[in-house]
Amino acid sequence: MSTDTLPSHVPADKAMRLPYFAREVVKDCPQETLIPEMHRTLGPITYVTNIFPGDKPGWLLTGYDDTMAMLRDADNYTKNGMGQWSQSIGENWLVVPTEVDPPTHSHYRKALNPSFSPQKMAAMKDDLKRRAVDLIDKFKDRKSCDFINEFSERYPIYIVLDLLGLPQDRMAEFLVWEKEMLHSNDWEVRSNAVKKAVNYLKGEIALRREKPLDDYISRLFDLEAGEGRKWNDEEVLGHCFNLFLGGLDTVTTMLGNIFAHLVRHPEQQQELREHPERIVLAVEEFLRVYGPVTAFRIAAQEIEVHGQKIMPGDYVSVATPIVNQDPKIHENPSDIRFDRKAPHVALGGGIHKCLGMHLARFELQTAIDEFLKAIPQFRLKEGTELGYFVGNITFIPKLELEWD
Ligand code: HEM
Repeated sequence: MSTDTLPSHVPADKAMRLPYFAREVVKDCPQETLIPEMHRTLGPITYVTNIFPGDKPGWLLTGYDDTMAMLRDADNYTKNGMGQWSQSIGENWLVVPTEVDPPTHSHYRKALNPSFSPQKMAAMKDDLKRRAVDLIDKFKDRKSCDFINEFSERYPIYIVLDLLGLPQDRMAEFLVWEKEMLHSNDWEVRSNAVKKAVNYLKGEIALRREKPLDDYISRLFDLEAGEGRKWNDEEVLGHCFNLFLGGLDTVTTMLGNIFAHLVRHPEQQQELREHPERIVLAVEEFLRVYGPVTAFRIAAQEIEVHGQKIMPGDYVSVATPIVNQDPKIHENPSDIRFDRKAPHVALGGGIHKCLGMHLARFELQTAIDEFLKAIPQFRLKEGTELGYFVGNITFIPKLELEWD
């Protein structure tokens, strides 16, 4: 969208295109450049003409408190159908629970939360460790690796497939579907990938509907959906799809961002190697600064924020990487300090707070711990340089490491 065709409630001086949402690779770390710059130059609310994939517009809130208030306000903001995932392939199911509003959302979360409790996720720790070690063993002795391709993309796919009880033999296809679904700015490429992933999941669900197994997907058929009924096939599909959307790319991009930081800060890499007990808090600080997700809400009513009118149907961002550097909340926000214990919204907030948050934390902690145990001080491979993709998901497209 260009600034010439603004809706009538958007003042021209509040509308702009922002480089942070350009969906391109930049040379300088955006957490240290573009984000602090936005906090210096923008007001609390800006109409960003390229904030949503496909160059669509929406409101950017830069403040932590404003974002938390929106996340807690399920009356004025909706998520219903917001990702347009099933609509993009001519279908009409919702991604469960992420695209669902209360009260149905509350039924879904009540049914799902026990499966993602800290205790249940802690029971997966040995599996996480085994998956991490298996991957690291493949390149350990080579003294180099393509971190994204050989580790951070594969590790969460293993884990989500393990969690769902699906076979690992389609890993290569999942990698392609996931990248096309989440990183392409071309809606046709996106929807083709959605179709393939959905068809695969539909097949697995139909097999289990006919003959249930002792696995996660089969157990979904027994969950309560409210009104005394059980989940139907569309709800099961919508939820499995949500775990792919939520559980793969986020962990991949977080790991890329964390390991790029450890390359640029060898002293902090050494600190965590010498003090693995600091990894738990370090992960919180990495999430705060490098959490990659910009999510959205849709205004359900006319709302006013800082005197600016937001109209029903407008998109409003939950720009976690930006909000987590709010200078009103944090001192020198872009500095990583392992002992900071600062609040953040990297895993969301309010009723839609990340269902997989405990798993996510364990995955990141285990990956860092096992990597630092197995690999000595690592650095960026000679002749390569870092690039940072900026957009709704902020990530490192290529990270080649080497060590002695
Ligand atoms: C570091 C990794 C992760 C990050 C940064 C992350 C981030 C987020 C964020 C910001 C939200 C809220 C979105 C919103 O409010 O619109 C969310 C929701 C969600 N996440 Fe995660 N996530 C991660 C890992 C995972 C994992 C491993 C899973 C599951 C395997 C998962 C499953 C979900 C689900 C199902 C939701 C929707 C919850 C609801 O709507 O009630 N996430 N995540």
